[in-house]
Formats: sequence, C-alpha cells, structure tokens
Amino acid sequence: MKNTLLLCLALIAAPVASQAADVKGDAGAGSRKVAMCYGCHGIARYQTDFPQVYKVPKIGGQNAKYMVAALDEYRSGQRKHPSMQGIAGSLSDQDIADVAAFFAAFDAKAAPVPETPPAPPAALAARLAVCEACHGKNFNNTTDAAYPKLAGQYADYLLVSLKAYMTDNNPRVGRSNAIMRGMIAPEVDGKMKPTFNNAELKQVAQYLSSLPGDLKTASESEFHRSASR
Ligand code: HEC
Ligand code: HEC
Repeated sequence: MKNTLLLCLALIAAPVASQAADVKGDAGAGSRKVAMCYGCHGIARYQTDFPQVYKVPKIGGQNAKYMVAALDEYRSGQRKHPSMQGIAGSLSDQDIADVAAFFAAFDAKAAPVPETPPAPPAALAARLAVCEACHGKNFNNTTDAAYPKLAGQYADYLLVSLKAYMTDNNPRVGRSNAIMRGMIAPEVDGKMKPTFNNAELKQVAQYLSSLPGDLKTASESEFHRSASR
C-alpha cells in the first residue's frame, strides 16, 4: 500500500517521463542541427504572431534537461504551439538531446547571478516563495535541471506560458504539465481555482523578467564568439 503510494507520488512528481530524457546529448552534434532554430530563437526580441503575438523565448543558457522535456511535450502535443509542434515533431530523441545540450552550453553572463534577488511586490511575496522550491530563490539557480530558469525571460512569453497552464480545449494553445497546472490553476471541488488573477499574472511575469539571470538569445554570432574565445 505504502509502496503503491510512493510509486504514484514518484510518477506525479517525475518532471520528465520520456525516452528522450535517457538519451545523452552532444552539443557538438547539436551545433549542426540548429540552423533553422536561429531563425526565431537567434534574433533578440523576435516576435511570433501565430497563434498569439509575443516574443520567442530565450533558450541560450536554459537547462538542457528542461528543454528536452519541453521539446518532447511539443512533440507529443502536451504543449501546444503549431510551429514548435511541427518542428519538434521532425526531431528524433537523439536530435532533441543534442540541440538541448547545444543551447544549454551558451555562455552564462560574465557576472555571477546574485543568490538573493530584488524582492517581489509585497502582495505576491508569499505565493512566489512557493515557486522557489523548484525554480530557485533567484529563479535562475533551479533546484533541479528539469525545471526552467525564469529570471530574465521575456515578460510577454512568461505571461503566455502561465496562462497556457490554465487553458483547456483550445487546439492551438495550452500546456498539460501536471506540476505547473497544480501551481497555477489547481482544481478545488472539480473547479479551477487560479492562484493569481490576470493583473497579478502580469506582475509575476514582469517581476521574473526583471531579474538577472543566465538566459540569453541564442544568436549565431554569440555562438561564434564564445566558440572562438
Ligand atoms: C518559427 C519560429 C521558431 C522556430 C524556427 C523554432 N522555435 Fe522554438 N519556440 C518558438 C516559440 C514561439 C516558442 C514558444 C511556444 C510556446 O508558447 O509554448 C518556442 C519554444 C521553444 C522551447 C521552449 C522554451 C521554454 O522556455 O519553454 C524550446 C526548447 C525551443 N523552442 C527549441 C527550439 C529548437 C531546438 C528549434 C530548432 C530545432 C526551434 N525551437 C525552432 C518559435 C520557434
Ligand atoms: C514542484 C516544482 C515547481 C514549482 C513549485 C513551480 N514550478 Fe514552474 N515549472 C515547473 C516545471 C516542471 C515546469 C515545466 C513545465 C512544462 O513542461 O510545461 C515549470 C514551468 C514554468 C513556467 C514556464 C517557463 C517556460 O520557459 O515556458 C513558468 C512561467 C513557471 N513555471 C512559473 C512558476 C511560478 C510563478 C510558480 C509559483 C507560483 C512555479 N512555477 C512553481 C516546476 C515548478
């Protein structure tokens, strides 16, 4: 009985439940598979306009293990986004591991990220403290590489991603990740009970975006520079 419970908990908590997670990534091999990714992820502040308008996320310096999980979720449709679903769908497990290793290896900022970030708006502090258990106190040094770095990510992308965890029944938008759904839109008596209202979600996204962190635009020129150093 106890073992069954533990197993269930382990399954719920497992952030990555895919084969792709077991494949070892090779950044060198990845460098030869990312030409098309630069078209969107390699241009600072580049905007996507379908199905919604917002900036393409920064993936330079993001955790590899997290990117593997994200790409796997686009591929399986647990994360919806027409272009990323199409792109991830064309990648094998090995491709995913390689491109994730490559983008994760983009140089971090020269200055170390401070352990303690500027305080969030007081009204949000208690609810944001919960997030630190995974995303880290400074939202950059995550407690496990399966969780994404959020510090310095584009605010409009963060807002869209947070709302995606509250979205059902839309063919083009929505994320079914159980951990984040529980954080942002837990079900209470069969009804979704949002942790933050719309105005607060915007404040959360703004705050996280304002923090110093490792994330950067994965531009081709940056790569050549760090490679030639
Ligand atoms: C047409 C533009 C476009 C191209 C090309 C593209 N992406 Fe994306 N990518 C996006 C957008 C937009 C998102 C955010 C989607 C969403 O809202 O979930 C995204 C999300 C991601 C994420 C998740 C980021 C996060 O913080 O969760 C990863 C990882 C990623 N892309 C990797 C890649 C890789 C690797 C390639 C090349 C093989 C690639 N992308 C090519 C537009 C693009
Ligand atoms: C138990 C661990 C855990 C906690 C606590 C947690 N998260 Fe997450 N978070 C995750 C995981 C895992 C993902 C990736 C989910 C996926 O694959 O879509 C994620 C993804 C996200 C994303 C999307 C990032 C991106 O690049 O697409 C945002 C934004 C986010 N979390 C914000 C928060 C906020 C705000 C809180 C607190 C209210 C929080 N998280 C609490 C584990 C956690």
